[in-house]
Amino acid sequence: MNKEVRLSNEELHNLICNKVKSAGLQESHAEELAKHLVYADRHGIHSHGAVRVDYYSERIAKGGINAHPTFDFEKTGESTGIFHGDNGMGHVVANEALKEAITMAKSSGMAAVGVSRTSHTGTMAYYVKKAAEQDLVAISMCQSDPMVVPFGGAEPYYGTNPIGFGAPRKGAEPVVFDMATTVQAWGKVLDARSKNEPIPDNWAVDESGEPTTDPHMVRGLLPISGPKGYGLMMMVDILSGILLGLPFGKDVSSMYNDLSVGRDLGQLFILIDPARFTDIELFKEQVDQSMNELNHIKPASGFDRVMYPGELALVKAEEYEENGIPVVADIHAYLTSATVHFDKYALSSPFAD
Ligand code: NAI
Repeated sequence: MNKEVRLSNEELHNLICNKVKSAGLQESHAEELAKHLVYADRHGIHSHGAVRVDYYSERIAKGGINAHPTFDFEKTGESTGIFHGDNGMGHVVANEALKEAITMAKSSGMAAVGVSRTSHTGTMAYYVKKAAEQDLVAISMCQSDPMVVPFGGAEPYYGTNPIGFGAPRKGAEPVVFDMATTVQAWGKVLDARSKNEPIPDNWAVDESGEPTTDPHMVRGLLPISGPKGYGLMMMVDILSGILLGLPFGKDVSSMYNDLSVGRDLGQLFILIDPARFTDIELFKEQVDQSMNELNHIKPASGFDRVMYPGELALVKAEEYEENGIPVVADIHAYLTSATVHFDKYALSSPFAD
């Protein structure tokens, strides 16, 4: 049975923190990772929350996530730089790189900061929201392991290569929209696996390239809107991989292969200071006006109201604030146990259970 428990932000934070520390992650990195994962679960992005802790812990324990990395920010111009992550915990690496990007965008008007040699980096929403809270417009994108069938192809080439966008808004939380460039993120398949629930038949294909509804049989994901999503994943791979001199396309490392080596992934932040283009207060007011206008569009039949892009995450956050964050019972049992797996994900298939 897939029962769930409801936890407060603090309870979930502490469980995650304790688990990854027991796997070997240093305290400050564990704290940042826990903040990120609780953010994801708290906003209904369960594919990138506590469900990942088991895998991260095994990778930390095996050394494939560097628990004591040396970070280096290489400024390559007024508005450009590369943050070298030394294959540390991806969420921590990206968070440090973002701090540099924010400082740069504030002083020069914009920043394009590449994050080089990092690990799985979580939800893009976390980063673009932080930048938008500093009155910046933010775009974040990153590589992920090759598991997506190209349009017209029968074997994987690109990753689920996500894109996130954030913008500040007057008198309300920033507008935050982020998505995988696949119909669904791989984490959603993992989430369905953990709940033993079927998936819709347009998410993924099995070994023979046929659509499947069994999350355990998935051997390739499908891009959003055929050739259009396929083109967006190419863009992400060029900007966060080839641009940074990192492995690209089918040579991007897999999450589930050798967990004792670093993944060498790439990410890119593009931050823009709206104050360099227009009055910042007017900009925020007009973003707010635009979101309000969307909320007042006449709903189609079957819809109560129109939400602006990304609003769903705030609806979830409000509900969880009241009732607690839902955590699948199996995940809760793992988090409260003393277990750190050392062989659960050590399979050759990139689609390990
Ligand atoms: P999704 O399909 O659940 O949602 C996509 C976006 O649409 C979100 O901003 C959501 O709030 C918004 N949305 C959904 N329904 C809505 C509605 N009815 N009205 C208005 N807005 C609505 O997201 P997806 O594609 O499954 O991605 C989940 C997460 O996975 C993202 O946070 C993404 O950053 C992350 N991801 C991370 C990867 C990595 O390697 N680090 C790889 C792929 C995805």
